[in-house]
Amino acid sequence: MMKLFENMLVMRMAYWLRDNDFRSFFIAWKRFFHAIKKAPLRMRTRAIRKLPLKRPRMAPEFCARHIGFMERSVFMSGRSDENYRPDEAYGSDENYRPDEAYGSDENYRSDEGCRNDEYYMQRAIALARRGEGAVHPNPMVGAVLVKDGRVIAEDYHRVYGGFHAERGCLLNCREPAKGGTLYVTLEPCCHYGKTPPCTDIIIDSGVRRVVVGTKDPNPLVSGRGIQILKDHGIEVVCGVCREECLELNRIFFHYIRTGMPYVTLKYAMTMDGKTAAASGKSRWITGEAARHRVHEERGRHRGIMVGIGTALADDPLLTCRLEGQKSPVRIVCDSALRLPLSSKLVQTARQTPLMIATACTDEARRAPYMAEGCQLINVPRDDGGLKLDVLMRALGERKIDSILLEGGSTLAWSALKAGVVQRVLAFIAPKILGGCQAPGAVGGPGAESPDAAFKLKLRHTEPVGCDFLMESEVISDVYRDC
Ligand SMILES: NC(=O)c1ccc[n+]([C@@H]2O[C@H](COP(=O)([O-])OP(=O)(O)OC[C@H]3O[C@@H](n4cnc5c(N)ncnc54)[C@H](OP(=O)(O)O)[C@@H]3O)[C@@H](O)[C@H]2O)c1
Repeated sequence: MMKLFENMLVMRMAYWLRDNDFRSFFIAWKRFFHAIKKAPLRMRTRAIRKLPLKRPRMAPEFCARHIGFMERSVFMSGRSDENYRPDEAYGSDENYRPDEAYGSDENYRSDEGCRNDEYYMQRAIALARRGEGAVHPNPMVGAVLVKDGRVIAEDYHRVYGGFHAERGCLLNCREPAKGGTLYVTLEPCCHYGKTPPCTDIIIDSGVRRVVVGTKDPNPLVSGRGIQILKDHGIEVVCGVCREECLELNRIFFHYIRTGMPYVTLKYAMTMDGKTAAASGKSRWITGEAARHRVHEERGRHRGIMVGIGTALADDPLLTCRLEGQKSPVRIVCDSALRLPLSSKLVQTARQTPLMIATACTDEARRAPYMAEGCQLINVPRDDGGLKLDVLMRALGERKIDSILLEGGSTLAWSALKAGVVQRVLAFIAPKILGGCQAPGAVGGPGAESPDAAFKLKLRHTEPVGCDFLMESEVISDVYRDC
């Protein structure tokens, strides 16, 4: 009987540690079932009833009682130094080099005087970035726990639905967290989501001070996490490295506040602003390196969008062709369902999801697309084409938090006009195409005067192979109010 309970405990611990260590989780499950097989029938039933099959989101009281107790015992005693492996916190990530995030070891020691709040927050930001591509639509978050001038634990949010950074960090503690300072890039949550509130575990851990990068604009948190910590006598400093923390999660901030995806308009143009020759041919404007960069961008986004004009002219695949990267959902704006069933987009709809935004409601015309595995989104149209704000809301509801808008020029103009573009990536090739009929990067009727132009803020410029990249932000973007 004792053995059975022991195994149940191991199993429960493993359940909560499973995001950090899959191996121990599965071993624990195996041991548990082995033990249960030998137990008397009455015991088996009771033990099975106690299995934490429900996610904490569904049973908050359950985790508050059982899991909270276990977590408390973990960080009050601290992990024994013997068992602690710094790499453990990072799972089997082969690419991880502990120094990478913080500069060389040499700097680490000689910089002792500079180890202030900014220094540790930069560490937390570097850790947070490691969750890129795996956590959306959640934010990327990193956490570092410092005690007596030493980092005693750190972690980051690794996967959507997994531990939040501060929870992982406190559970990775080498020694009791009591009296320490926790650095976290985003305000700790105070609500039950896929995991219990992080404020609970922070309060229970006994940390003395919490340094936060930026407030969480999620209406479920929005300053309440900070207030709860203060109410429990914890000193809270907010806004350390705020700009970097905002930049880190610009997609999340926009998505959570608007319910719409963060849209990046991307185009490749010549130095005279042409995206295709007068003949309509556009392959290739930029060189190999820039095209590789575009594939990297595709890998970072949840959706990739084009207008039907581009789909008809180029018959593109719109996938991310970098090894190990997932292709985004492909979206075509096609009011009248003109996309040929024989196009590469439709023919690959079963391998890489394809959504067609359309105003066509004729079931007979829609059926063949659905039979090919395409998803059709009904969007009303106005004079300029499909209503893009309605489309963006519909995509947001489908958990698409970011879109790379790859043209063409007609759709680019409509998107800017509808106010749904947040960032512009312009790849500029040192070429001149000329031709009055050759399309430019943004078409439509255009602004009436330079004063009426869409205003952008230049964020970054960089040479990419033989081309040049300019990254700008549309000034009206909302996420900076956090
Ligand atoms: N160099 C580059 O970076 C680059 C990138 C992309 C494309 N291109 C080139 O650009 C050319 C295609 O551009 P394009 O301007 O002709 O076509 P486009 O912008 O790709 O598509 C425009 C079409 O999309 C549909 N649409 C649906 N909703 C819309 C809305 N709200 N606003 C605007 N359009 C909407 C409309 O057709 P319906 O009314 O039938 O729906 C419209 O005619 C091609 O030659 C392509 O090779 C170059």
